[in-house]
Amino acid sequence: MTQMPKTVGVLGGGRMGAGIAQVFIAAGAEVSVAETGDAAAARRRVADGLAKAAARGKLADAVDVALSRLSVVDDVSAIPPTAELVVEAVPEVPALKVDVLTKAEQVIGEHAVLASNTSSLSIAGLGSALSRPDRFLGLHFFNPVPASSLVEVVTAPRTAAGVIEQVRGWISGLGKTDVVVRDSPGFATSRLGVLLGLEAIRMLEEGVADAEAIDTAMELGYRHPMGPLRSTDLVGLDVRLAIAEYLHATLGDRFAPPQLLRDKVAAGQLGRKTGQGFYFWG
Ligand SMILES: NC(=O)c1ccc[n+]([C@@H]2O[C@H](COP(=O)([O-])OP(=O)(O)OC[C@H]3O[C@@H](n4cnc5c(N)ncnc54)[C@H](O)[C@@H]3O)[C@@H](O)[C@H]2O)c1
Repeated sequence: MTQMPKTVGVLGGGRMGAGIAQVFIAAGAEVSVAETGDAAAARRRVADGLAKAAARGKLADAVDVALSRLSVVDDVSAIPPTAELVVEAVPEVPALKVDVLTKAEQVIGEHAVLASNTSSLSIAGLGSALSRPDRFLGLHFFNPVPASSLVEVVTAPRTAAGVIEQVRGWISGLGKTDVVVRDSPGFATSRLGVLLGLEAIRMLEEGVADAEAIDTAMELGYRHPMGPLRSTDLVGLDVRLAIAEYLHATLGDRFAPPQLLRDKVAAGQLGRKTGQGFYFWG
């Protein structure tokens, strides 16, 4: 069995970064989260997640013992040079990601692995400014990270085979399952998931059925655990729109965002996080 990393760096302590930090802490690692925004909020997100895991009997240590393995720093340059793995989870803005990845590479050792949690951006593109692109790959965790069993491993042409195997061992050590996917727009998950969501929105626009009916059709008829519109509400309509625009530009017209999606984003109806998307969230 692969030995888990003892020290992990996470860049960005938002929804995904906090979840990624939580699962590595639960697996016994010391985790350093670099967060340039609200550091206290980042720490709270991880602490709340650990408390929830403990309440469900899914944390081996006491919460305060697990929390003692967390540090939150205010800049990428302050992550520990001993980090064996650094996962980038800053917003989906290519220039920002390239910037933090390049800075992290300068801090960590030459045998460390650098990964991006991007939902759709080209791994080869994000890694093009790195001096060790062979040690870089996509590690696409899902939301919410602690409860999701899948991690999509996205391999660029220059990613070393040994790095892929090492990372797959770590994912297995987290109790999760990986799928290895070649670097291509939207990978396997976002590409299929977004397409389904966009078609569901077009069906809503055309009055084929209401949101509840479309979701129930897929949940009961196709055994999807969650319908495409409810799922869009959870991910965030703004996040979905940004990915759809990228896939439209790279893969063509079948990913053209429907007007209804644009209108809802413009109106601030972003899904669960704003209380309204395709559904009302209390
Ligand atoms: N939300 C999802 O469902 C989901 C799922 C899979 C992957 N992703 C991907 O994960 C990444 C993060 O998404 P999120 O939903 O956690 O976003 P988020 O906005 O919740 O978190 C991003 C965090 O990064 C911080 N940040 C910004 N610039 C920084 C910098 N220079 N250095 C350090 N921290 C910085 C922000 O303050 C924020 O706390 C994105 O690439 C997204 O596409 C998101």
